[in-house]
Amino acid sequence: MNSKQIFEIEARHTSGLYTKQPIIFVRGQGALLFDIDNVEYLDCASGHGVANLGHAHPMVAAALAEQATKLVTLFETFYNDQRAALMEKMCALVPGLERVFFCNSGTEAVEAAIKFARISTGRPGIVATMRAFHGRTMGSLSATYNKKYREGFEPLVPGYCHVPYNNIEALEKAISAETAAFIVEAVQGEGGVYIADPAYIQAARRICDEHGALLIIDEVQSGFGRTGKWFAVQHSGVTPDLLCCAKSLAGGVPMGAVLIGPAVKNLTPGVHGSTFGGNPLACAAGVAALTAIEAERLPAQAAEKGAYLMQKLRQIDSPLIREVRGIGLMVGIELKQKVQPYLKTLQDRHILALNAGLTVIRLLPPLVITYEQIDHLLEVLTEVFSSEASASTQAE
Ligand SMILES: Cc1ncc(COP(=O)(O)O)c(C=O)c1O
Repeated sequence: MNSKQIFEIEARHTSGLYTKQPIIFVRGQGALLFDIDNVEYLDCASGHGVANLGHAHPMVAAALAEQATKLVTLFETFYNDQRAALMEKMCALVPGLERVFFCNSGTEAVEAAIKFARISTGRPGIVATMRAFHGRTMGSLSATYNKKYREGFEPLVPGYCHVPYNNIEALEKAISAETAAFIVEAVQGEGGVYIADPAYIQAARRICDEHGALLIIDEVQSGFGRTGKWFAVQHSGVTPDLLCCAKSLAGGVPMGAVLIGPAVKNLTPGVHGSTFGGNPLACAAGVAALTAIEAERLPAQAAEKGAYLMQKLRQIDSPLIREVRGIGLMVGIELKQKVQPYLKTLQDRHILALNAGLTVIRLLPPLVITYEQIDHLLEVLTEVFSSEASASTQAE
């Protein structure tokens, strides 16, 4: 199939749900993506934070190839070596959370955690935060804040409310004897790259305990080393009752999971489930991915590289930049104007980045990005944000 045919077929058959960019990617390697003409792009989006290990990681590729010849699918009613290995590895990452539910995406992980909180406590209330993004299925969408995602889908699930992020007083008021759970991102990604104050997460733990509510931490985007620790919540020393993860868990293979603590009750056979959840193929990829993240010290690398990147970003002298914030390799550059034209300019310079709301450029590069690649990124960003360049971008 040539490029013209690919564009035509996708344009004809796409659901219409995505803003398409006119580039055909066919291959990746580490932090690089290659288009159909073998043109190289630096991937600072990682498929929305999936490719922590980079693209085409040899350990994940080998595990997939081997497992595909053995057993791809097996319902969780039966035992399996790869699933057992992954369960053990995952539960070792967060001492205190000794059970795990496997599913296939971030929204499914959040959906499951909310159901677990309700069945466990027998209460309806879910307290979430303003600017939160937890996914797009009805239960997780009801916890998502931005009306852009919610409008047109009402009535959403009843029993939800939203409180300002990082505001302990508002949380004290919102959580009651009717609350099943407080759900919060340890770092808000889509919402603009805002980091939870460790004192806020510690207070959330205390307030939930005082009212018999559960604490759900959503690490779908911030998990698996991205913020400098395995999970961002670990910066606060708090152990949640339910920890949702997905994205980079299986090195890019679709997989989600909820880690479950001892306070979560009533998870009995048939209460919840997933056909594909915990299938041996995804589990084999998960085992390989976690082994590689550990062997390559990617959490520590993310901390070091993120500190370097942010320090240099803060040195860029541009009247356009309002603030640089982030943790590890989860970085936001807040501009004084809309970011879309700048993302397009970066893409034209073969750098892929994301927005987070209207005015924040979000960088989520693979944690294996090299310092040389970070320097290249900084060079391009400096050029793009220099006064002259930004004047011409604005004029477009
Ligand atoms: C914090 C958070 N939770 C949940 C989700 C939903 O994940 P998925 O798109 O895999 O359903 C996302 C996706 O970006 C996310 O960032």
